[in-house]
Amino acid sequence: MTMQPQHDRIIIFDTTLRDGEQCPGATLNGDEKLVIAKQLARLGVDVIEAGFPFASPGDFDAVQKIAATVGTETGPTICGLARATRQDIKAAAEAVKPAAKPRIHTFIATSDIHLQYKLKKSREEVLKIAPEMVAYAKSFVDDVEFSPEDAGRSDPEFLYQILEVAIAAGATTVNIPDTVGYTTPAEFGGLIRGIKENVPNIDQAIISVHGHNDLGLAVANFLSAVENGARQLECTINGIGERAGNAALEELVMALHVRRQYYNPFFGRPPESTEPLTQIDTKQIYKSSRLVSNLTGMLVQPNKAIVGANAFAHESGIHQDGVLKNKLTYEIMDAESIGLSENQIVLGKHSGRHAFSNRLQELGFELSDTDLNKAFVRFKELADKKKEISDWDIEAIVNDEIQQA
Ligand code: KIV
Ligand code: ZN
Repeated sequence: MTMQPQHDRIIIFDTTLRDGEQCPGATLNGDEKLVIAKQLARLGVDVIEAGFPFASPGDFDAVQKIAATVGTETGPTICGLARATRQDIKAAAEAVKPAAKPRIHTFIATSDIHLQYKLKKSREEVLKIAPEMVAYAKSFVDDVEFSPEDAGRSDPEFLYQILEVAIAAGATTVNIPDTVGYTTPAEFGGLIRGIKENVPNIDQAIISVHGHNDLGLAVANFLSAVENGARQLECTINGIGERAGNAALEELVMALHVRRQYYNPFFGRPPESTEPLTQIDTKQIYKSSRLVSNLTGMLVQPNKAIVGANAFAHESGIHQDGVLKNKLTYEIMDAESIGLSENQIVLGKHSGRHAFSNRLQELGFELSDTDLNKAFVRFKELADKKKEISDWDIEAIVNDEIQQA
């Protein structure tokens, strides 16, 4: 089967379970990974990078389980990461095998800094390994992604060469990582444009981008890359990931959604087209954010764009007055569009155990009957004092009263 690259919309590649999990303190067990993978499928991501199978038996099992349960014919592509070595690629192939749409993502560094100090290899050696390993991955799956790690600091001429041989060897997606979050938006967009103009066989592959947030520029860099031809975005829920994190899925998706009149022409569409640029169900964004935060223990800062507690809150009198007159005065998107109002179905003193336990599940908590009973008692006590119980109250009850017990 030959894969046809799609250039007319954005492919959302979620790496919460791989790069996101590389965030210090954010380890997830296999069951938690599966719960998140199911939610990512409901969210509508195109690809789930479920882990790095060679890294540990636990990661291997989690990827395999996700491939078997979430990687159905109508579900997302399930991807496993592999360094450009036979042992890694073999493990990734084995782990993603149960998926209806399996992908292997193999990478090797291309910046001179990485070649000299990390790999201790020459450009010539890497130029030979990359296509060999892409071809090896291709012997297991049709869908192979290749990444030149630290592309953001690599010599563009060398990148053009390695991408050309990787595509010739069968890579269907070429991913351009700004591994250390070093580039600026105009620079990163220019790099993508250069790749489009200088890699002769680039039309046979999707151009993807991957970026870290060391300078807080990951999302801006990606949007610039989209304007220059990138069609797959690698991102994580809440932007979690190594160091300052990865590009945040919710920010990218909502930027493309809210500003689609601006982005449509880059996809050859008239500005007024209402056809979505991603296939994400934006109403699942808030729920996904809470789930990932609760299971990883990574708190979301209150002023975080889209999913922070204050993202739709209006404090000043002038703003409140404006919003009451017309929401458009100070809101560029509806809270409902990210599923916030659904999650804000008010729980209060009249709410029953069923509604309470449903909300707990939506927030990613799976409590034993005993803990559920304890939490429900605490909830009722609080509901007597407070008219409305928010998700943050519920999370506090579970975190303070149950998990610390
Ligand atoms: O940041 C990075 O370069 C990566 C690669 C493995 C794609 O995570
Ligand atoms: Zn990364």
